[in-house]
Amino acid sequence: MALLDGKHVLLGITGGIAAYKCAELVRGLRRAGAEVRVVMTAAAERFVTPTTLQALSGNPVRSSLWDEAAEAAMSHIELARWADVVLVAPASADALARFAGGQANDLLSTLCLATEAPVHLAPAMNRVMWANAATQANVAALRARGFRIHGPGSGEQACGETGEGRMLEPEQLIDALAGHAGPWQGRHLLITAGPTYEDLDPVRFLGNRSSGKMGFALAEAAMAKGAQVTLVAGPVMLQTPAGVRRIDVRTAVQMHEAVMAELAGIDTFIAAAAVADYRPKTVSAGKIKKSDADASLDLERTPDILAAVSASPLRPKRVVGFAAETEHLDQYAQEKMRNKNLDAIAANVVGMPGSGFESSHNALTVFTRGGRHAIPLATKRQAADALLDILLEQLP
Ligand code: C5P
Repeated sequence: MALLDGKHVLLGITGGIAAYKCAELVRGLRRAGAEVRVVMTAAAERFVTPTTLQALSGNPVRSSLWDEAAEAAMSHIELARWADVVLVAPASADALARFAGGQANDLLSTLCLATEAPVHLAPAMNRVMWANAATQANVAALRARGFRIHGPGSGEQACGETGEGRMLEPEQLIDALAGHAGPWQGRHLLITAGPTYEDLDPVRFLGNRSSGKMGFALAEAAMAKGAQVTLVAGPVMLQTPAGVRRIDVRTAVQMHEAVMAELAGIDTFIAAAAVADYRPKTVSAGKIKKSDADASLDLERTPDILAAVSASPLRPKRVVGFAAETEHLDQYAQEKMRNKNLDAIAANVVGMPGSGFESSHNALTVFTRGGRHAIPLATKRQAADALLDILLEQLP
């Protein structure tokens, strides 16, 4: 199987002398098995002709948002959806600035904003322009947002100078794309993480000791394996992994609403959040005053998010739960799997030091419909990688 077999690659070409290498790049991408569509900026057309790229890609080349015939054949939004991966090569300093600013003032920048596919950038420019603080800030912002930056390489430049700013060679870019086309490429994961807080009054709540680390590690691991990830997070003190779309919530009800609203198009749902099972029946508008008498709380059930996802008409292909138990791990986990109709459940013993809640490490026992799989004590990121591998292997 070729490196990029059947992958839809949208190649964006911006205005830089390295654009002359795009002819080779398109040929190489096709040789690697990809289907290629080319979008050029107006400046790119000053360096290479659309005719060349049309002939090599075998598809019409687009450059304008306002081309009525091309829009009728495949609108820019359809083109954004068509792409499994976007590669902008060369990415000029101006293109980086416009992408970093979220602009949509030509076809290519609009596509970069409208696509849910990973966007890879191959910067190429004069070494001083590359080193400029403005460019570096743009690159840092793009990287933090999940854009993948390849190069630039250093060496002799077309402008006669020597330094960092050369576009990577076509073969290097193809290898980089193939490396990122991980096993979860094209799949959209929805993950819940962290605790929920159920308010009693404006200053008090019922919460739990979940740190959110397992769910965040899963989000990061899934991104690294090529997935698209939406993370619904309860109140946690964690940084969003690069490229992950994060929705913050506080309560079980809010988490339920956020998850149900995101279900369309989801391939795999993983419920790693420690959702409160009960919430106070009433939330006091003012701070509850103490008195000498004892007090008790009236609690009511919260929605079971995992069970609701599993029973939904929009049920994802894989629905995966977590079971944190202090005893009878295997039995409780398997019961939960049956009761909630899950494809897999990852069980861990809590209440032991060095694993589970608040820890950076976890040991998991994963039950799938096919059997029992042990993930020995490892960092949560390693455990996340192993869990994702098991899920794909058991339910390809
Ligand atoms: O039934 P139990 O709460 O032990 O099941 C734990 C699993 O169910 C976890 O995956 C957790 O994220 C999920 N869950 C949920 N909504 C709830 C309670 C638990 O999604 N209200």
